[in-house]
Amino acid sequence: MGGAVRVGVSVRRRSGAWSPTIQRLLRHLRQHGLDWVPEPLGRDQDGRDSVSYLAGEVPQYPLPDWIWNEDVLTDAARHLAQLHAASTGFDTTNASWQISAHQPVEVICHNDFAPYNMVFADGRLTGVIDWDTASPGPRVWDLAYLAYRLVPLTDPANGDGLDSEVDERARRLRLLCDTYSRYLGQELDTAAVLPATVQRLYDLAHFTQARADAGHEDLRSHVDLYQRDAAWIIAHTASLTGGAG
Ligand SMILES: Nc1ncnc2c1ncn2[C@@H]1O[C@H](COP(=O)(O)OP(=O)(O)OP(=O)(O)O)[C@@H](O)[C@H]1O
Ligand SMILES: [Mg+2]
Repeated sequence: MGGAVRVGVSVRRRSGAWSPTIQRLLRHLRQHGLDWVPEPLGRDQDGRDSVSYLAGEVPQYPLPDWIWNEDVLTDAARHLAQLHAASTGFDTTNASWQISAHQPVEVICHNDFAPYNMVFADGRLTGVIDWDTASPGPRVWDLAYLAYRLVPLTDPANGDGLDSEVDERARRLRLLCDTYSRYLGQELDTAAVLPATVQRLYDLAHFTQARADAGHEDLRSHVDLYQRDAAWIIAHTASLTGGAG
């Protein structure tokens, strides 16, 4: 959507008011050991933002079958935990974000931490791209969206997910949350993940509706999709969290 273009070892894209903040964030993360985020390379002579190109495979829909391997789920959980932990020391004074912060602010969220923004080599996660829409928020905001895409928490009729049993989804949701919290050495309120996912999907539906109304007619079907997925999560919350029902 942002018109990313590869130029040799770099990727260039439209800059915005958020660009200096994002470049500073990427530098901060790399300084804290996250060698899997793109290196910020400043602005090119055409005024575009430049970051390093991360070599590997970026999966697109329809997702390849290997994306449902357990290694992908646990790799993603650990990388997200690492991002959140490293982001707490980031100085947000005078920061400018493309997406408004979500309350309560605990960390810097990637805001689109999903397979289509991950780079893989031999089925293992080696990078995460598309940082322009990062902004402060609660940990669960990123975790909820990752769970939506990777557990998955989609209505089984949504072809973007995997048509798996609810019990298997409950197990994968637990594995995702356990891996994330074990990495942090902190308890996580897993009961908060599903309501956050529903909220996230309502937000997406709202945003997508506005884009469809503004002329992107192709996006209108996605509005229903997000709403159906949210309804599926609400209907299956008890089973997904290991309760009765
Ligand atoms: N730093 C990078 N390293 C390697 N590939 C990249 C990088 N940045 C972007 N890409 C490639 O360009 C594509 C689009 O980039 P990006 O995800 O940043 O933009 P986008 O606006 O979200 O576009 P899309 O809607 O297609 O995801 C990615 O799917 C990936 O294949
Ligand atoms: Mg992307």
